[in-house]
This record gives sequence, structure tokens and C-alpha cells, in this order.
Amino acid sequence: MSKTVLIATEKPFAPAAVEQIKAVFSQANYEVALLEKYTDKAAFIAAVENADALIVRSDKVTSDVIEAAKNLKIVVRAGAGYDNVDCAAASAKDIVVMNTPGQNSNAVAELAFGLMVTISRKQYQGKSGTELREKRIGIHGYGNIGKCMVKIAKGFGMEVEAFGRSLTPGQSLDDGAVASQSVADLYANCDYISLNIPSNETTKASVSYDLLSAVKKGAVLVNTARKEVVDEEGLKKMMEERPDFCYVSDVAPVCAEELREKYPDRCFFTAKKMGAQTAEANINAGIAAANQIVNFLEKGDTTFKVN
Ligand code: 3PG
Repeated sequence: MSKTVLIATEKPFAPAAVEQIKAVFSQANYEVALLEKYTDKAAFIAAVENADALIVRSDKVTSDVIEAAKNLKIVVRAGAGYDNVDCAAASAKDIVVMNTPGQNSNAVAELAFGLMVTISRKQYQGKSGTELREKRIGIHGYGNIGKCMVKIAKGFGMEVEAFGRSLTPGQSLDDGAVASQSVADLYANCDYISLNIPSNETTKASVSYDLLSAVKKGAVLVNTARKEVVDEEGLKKMMEERPDFCYVSDVAPVCAEELREKYPDRCFFTAKKMGAQTAEANINAGIAAANQIVNFLEKGDTTFKVN
């Protein structure tokens, strides 16, 4: 019997990506069901019932979704962060969870620079701004996105410092970045700090008031990662105490409205998470997800399994 793949995307892929994902599955003789822009979790739960495989973006694959899926063997998060998937619930039912690392990194990194330019040019409201050239950027998290950030930062003529678990303090990296002595140093040394860390038990609220309060005068925090990694009480305190500090984010904090109202010139938040919202990123991540599903179901290939 032919296999069925559900693509459940509250925030849809670009049409060109859907077309190309469908082509991969058509080649494998799989059926495709598409659930886009759903507003009701019940619609997702109903749609997943008979699926053998599932592709999602930031859609929440919670235990009730997993429970409802009678035939599910694999979930692929078309993207990097899989904090939206209940991996323990999936493992308990022997369902494989994968992500597609690196496929949307460039799109996210480009958006981070867009946010930096937006705030540095005073949100294009006619006031004089500042440039990125010769400023120092701190890349917090040296994974696929962090590495893209370094390349683009070099193009802007910035000095680059990075902090990541794989780096040795003080190490000079081949891409021109220097590894920070510590995470505290990264925050203290840089004019822009970009968050490129995943959200997990270790990183939640890890961008604390202590780290933030040490930043240089006029520093900008750029968050294209997850809102959960920033301690919002600390952030609010920082915004209140430091009229020179700016926060720009693709993942608006819970307190977004309050910050916008109080400090309109010092914060900017996208309307929806837009980092990976390009045709290219959707095509790259979507095709990778589709191929990973076919390779797993046909050959048992578990590359990029995360659970
Ligand atoms: C990711 O983790 O890959 C990014 O945050 C993109 O998420 P999205 O697919 O919901 O845009």
C-alpha cells in the first residue's frame, strides 16, 4: 500500500517549495496531504491520523498529536530547532524525529543583519543612524547559522567574536572570527550580540540580566533564535535602566507590546517568525525533509535523527 505523508504547516512553505517536495514524493509513489494555515489543533490531530510520515515547521508536535497518529514512523522538522516536537513522546512510540540542519541558515542569518541595519538606521524614520562597519559583533552559538553570520559580518567589515561549546577560548578561527574567552566576555566586548543558540533545558532564560547588564554602551541584542532563551524580566529591567540598549528580534517576546509602547525607538519585532521565510530556505529545507523521509522509509537511513 502506498505511504502517506502529511505536510502540516501553519506558516506555509512557498508554493515553489511545496511543488518540489511533492515531486520527490511522487517519484517514490507516496501520497501527499497538505494542511496549511490551520488555526485549530483539532485539524492537525485529525489530519495526522493515517500519515506514515510528517513534515512540519514550527508546528507543535505535542503528545496528543503523536498519540493520534496511528501509522506514524517519522517526523521531520523542516528546519533547525526541534524544540516544538515532543521527542520523548515520539521515542516512546518508536517514531523517528529528524531536523534538516543548515538548510535555512543563510535565510536566518540574512534576516539578523536586516534587523541590525533596521535598528541602526533608526527604523528608516528620517533620523541619522550608525553603520555596522568596524563594529564588533558577538555570535552567541557557533553552529550553522552562527557560521553564516560570521561570513556576512566580514562582508560588512565587522570584527567578529564567537562563543560556542565547540570553541577553545581565544582560538583564531579559519573564517576570521576569534573565540571569546567566556560568554560573559562576548557580551561585554561587542556592539552587536546575535543569539544563534537552540532552545533547550540548558539555554532557557540563559541570556540573563547579569549578562545583559555588562554590555557596551549602545549595544544591540539580536534574537533570531527563540524567545525562551532570553530572561524577559532581565530584559525588561535592562530596557528600563539602559536607555542606550536596543533589542531586535524575529521571535517577539511575550512582553513585546509593553516594550514597543515604552521604547519604540529601541526595539523592533517582526510580525511573525520570518527568519526562514524565503523561497530558497523553504525549498532547501522542504526537499531535504522529503528526501530524508524517503531514505528512512525505503532504506532505514537515520541520518539527522535527533531522538
Ligand atoms: C528553525 O528552527 O529552523 C527556524 O527557526 C525556522 O523556523 P520556521 O520554519 O518556523 O520558520
